[in-house]
Amino acid sequence: MDDTEPQTAAGKVLWHFSMSLDGFVAGRNHTMDWMTGTPSRPGLVREYVETTGAVLGGRDGWDAIVDDQRPYGGEWDGPIFVLTHHPEDARPAEGVTFLNCDVAEAVRIGLDAAGGKNLEVFSPTIGRQLLERGLIDEIDLHIVPVLLGDGIRLYDSPGGEPIRLDRIGAGDPSLIVNVRYRPAATNVQAGGHME
Ligand SMILES: NC(=O)c1ccc[n+]([C@@H]2O[C@H](COP(=O)([O-])OP(=O)(O)OC[C@H]3O[C@@H](n4cnc5c(N)ncnc54)[C@H](OP(=O)(O)O)[C@@H]3O)[C@@H](O)[C@H]2O)c1
Repeated sequence: MDDTEPQTAAGKVLWHFSMSLDGFVAGRNHTMDWMTGTPSRPGLVREYVETTGAVLGGRDGWDAIVDDQRPYGGEWDGPIFVLTHHPEDARPAEGVTFLNCDVAEAVRIGLDAAGGKNLEVFSPTIGRQLLERGLIDEIDLHIVPVLLGDGIRLYDSPGGEPIRLDRIGAGDPSLIVNVRYRPAATNVQAGGHME
């Protein structure tokens, strides 16, 4: 399968995640350890470090961050905006602005701060709200070869209507993408049972 073209800085609103094959972007209790140790194409992180101008996230994601860690393993530094209905009790940090406003206004503020680079949306719940408003330009995913079975879904909208997507890249944008995996040998313990 063709890989995606390198990301470009063009003032886009990107809903950007590493995601498990079964559609989770965080494990139970916001765990992220399931994505470590899986290599990605050379230069991928640098691509996003260079094209990201600002980040928009939600309060739960911010509260789950340990030691005020910054995106991309600390390689990226820039303005971060966190949406919350109660900014008064948020843990303050340098470069982080807490917003209590409409999501469209948060995007306007984020794009302004991004200065022509992209605004990355690091929140499933905010991404869903932006999708409903037609404010997501691209859904940019890195699919990690793992099944989690539990956690926070990229898109959670019980009872909602399907959202049709066009694949960006060469070829028919509506074509199904075929992938084929097998369970890795490391799943099976000596007795032949899954861990
Ligand atoms: N896999 C990846 O690449 C990746 C990247 C980044 C983040 N993540 C993960 O994504 C998860 C984010 O979790 P999540 O989406 O469930 O939560 P979230 O969006 O981070 O937080 C939800 C909270 O954000 C606030 N919020 C959302 N929309 C709002 C609005 N319109 N106005 C005001 N406040 C609003 C509310 O907080 P209040 O209750 O304060 O009002 C809401 O309860 C985290 O686990 C994080 O680690 C994964």
